[in-house]
Amino acid sequence: MEFVEHLLVLIHLLGLAAVIGSAVFVARGRVTRELIWGARIQVLSGLLLVALKEMGDGGLNHTKIAVKLVIGLLVVGCTEIAGARERKRSGEVSTLATSAGVLAVINAAVATLWETDES
Ligand code: HEM
Repeated sequence: MEFVEHLLVLIHLLGLAAVIGSAVFVARGRVTRELIWGARIQVLSGLLLVALKEMGDGGLNHTKIAVKLVIGLLVVGCTEIAGARERKRSGEVSTLATSAGVLAVINAAVATLWETDES
């Protein structure tokens, strides 16, 4: 079970790399498949990690997780709307793609700088 948990953290970090890599470093202001799928993977792997940790020893900071979930869903929202606009070739996507990247950086900061051992 611990191995699965570590595997999920790896997937979670690869999702982070896809979103932030695309929106902040490589394809600024543009929608890429990496951006869209990275955002989906972040929320999915994050929720699975929460489930596994709750089945195990718990120890999650629920306020922090709630904040991360809200921000993670905002990232998904930005990327899905930007992706839909790109497909229809209507509406601007640059602000949405950039917002997704900035929000993902904020979520990475929340993940790493916020204390974990309070509930
Ligand atoms: C853009 C979205 C996200 C980013 C950038 C992000 C980033 C990160 C990072 C960098 C870590 C490793 C931190 C560490 O182990 O110290 C982590 C761990 C984790 N994340 Fe996320 N995350 C995101 C979304 C989510 C979501 C939506 C959830 C769940 C609702 C979630 C739940 C978790 C959990 C449970 C861990 C395991 C570490 C712990 O015990 O806190 N994450 N995340």
